[in-house]
Amino acid sequence: MSDNRLTITDHRTGAQYEVPIVDGNIRATDLRKIKVQPDEFGMMTYDPAYLNTASCRSAITFIDGDIGILRYRGYPIEELAEKCSFLEVAWLLMRGELPTKIELECWEQRVMRHCMIHETSKKFLEGFRYNAHPMTMLISTTAALSTVYPEAKDIHDPVNRERQSVRLLAKMPTIAAYSYRHAFGLPYIYPDKTKSFTANFMHMLWSMVEPKFIDDPTIARVLDILFILHADHEQNCSTATMRQVGSSQADPYLSVAAAAAALSGPLHGGANEAVLIMLDEIGTKANVPAYIEKVKKGEVKLMGFGHRVYKNYDPRARIIKWAADEVFKITGVNHRIEVALELERIALQDEYFVGRKLYPNVDFYSGIIYQAMGFRPDLFTVLFAIPRVVGWLAQWEEMITDKEQKIARPRQVYTGYDERHFIPMEDRKPTTDLG
Ligand code: ACO
Repeated sequence: MSDNRLTITDHRTGAQYEVPIVDGNIRATDLRKIKVQPDEFGMMTYDPAYLNTASCRSAITFIDGDIGILRYRGYPIEELAEKCSFLEVAWLLMRGELPTKIELECWEQRVMRHCMIHETSKKFLEGFRYNAHPMTMLISTTAALSTVYPEAKDIHDPVNRERQSVRLLAKMPTIAAYSYRHAFGLPYIYPDKTKSFTANFMHMLWSMVEPKFIDDPTIARVLDILFILHADHEQNCSTATMRQVGSSQADPYLSVAAAAAALSGPLHGGANEAVLIMLDEIGTKANVPAYIEKVKKGEVKLMGFGHRVYKNYDPRARIIKWAADEVFKITGVNHRIEVALELERIALQDEYFVGRKLYPNVDFYSGIIYQAMGFRPDLFTVLFAIPRVVGWLAQWEEMITDKEQKIARPRQVYTGYDERHFIPMEDRKPTTDLG
């Protein structure tokens, strides 16, 4: 055997086991041979919240959280944000290489041709209450697209998979815009395929019948950059959900809806909305030290800070900070940025945050910039979901075509009763206080 092996001694039995190391890791199933009795199930690893478990091999996104590196298909996020359009990056993530000029033109036309949603989907959206959260509407309507495209069930056909992926990418902004307009009772605006992906989104959001919405090219470009930054982030909570649900061979609309539901939580994509609420609660720069003390006492969390993977400055937060300056040149400075900068300044000097390696994440500045661009806070997570569809679909495709993948099914460490026998109703003792 080569040196790429791990020797494990089980001190319960004195037995020694050799476990191969591949790419620096061991396979959890190799531990199953570690047993005290021959009829035992064998040893597992216990890893709540997947702190140290790789569930797939992936060639899409690379993160080095200790030094703050993010790359899509090998390209640094900084270069892609500076030089590419969002749809160019979408092609890169979904196909593996940057598109040529002609490939990109065809891709843009194809995506924009699929922007419209079926009229029945519009009616479906109308059924929501006037104050329905746009993210919940987006999740539900995406799931409902499964009824419009029943052929999506055939996930074994690569051509079919690709067609549904383009539809999903193209229709998300339309559903998002309609969800937003629903709250105001505004008529839905049909997509304009002559516009760019992001300019068309803003047109569907904000156009009134007359005058038409005129997009500012700087704002459209900043939105494009923000979409690039949010397009993928390897095995985060929502992407892991996409793979998990997709592994049962559910169709991509249902899998994306499940992934979007995972994204909606305040510890994940919902954090950008939570940051804005927090900044408003703090109010002024002068109140920042008192808020930091509350965080340190464990009374509140500093939303937009900390990350499971980044133990350094999130590279996306750095780009967003730069983009915020570009937006503020047009819209004027938002007072929240001053509070945010002060929070960051104080937190990055404080032992509580330094010791725990808590830095601003992508959500810390994104809410401020989105609001300055004119987006309402309840749309922020939707703005995250639109580009993240690209990552979900790229990861889904990788999972479907990975021969090693099967239906995802974790194990558990059972902590409940041993066998016990049925108790007739009259003999049962109350376990709750009904008073
Ligand atoms: N504010 C205050 N303390 C924090 C924060 C925070 N935002 N984040 C982590 N900590 C503390 C924890 O209390 C813990 O302290 P302890 O060791 O004294 O118990 C320590 O830092 C480690 O934190 P964990 O909770 O173990 O880190 P985990 O990797 O499980 O959580 C998470 C990561 C969920 C992102 C967390 O940092 C958090 O809740 N942040 C705020 C919400 C947020 O911004 N989410 C967006 C993440 S980015 C994204 O999903 C797109």
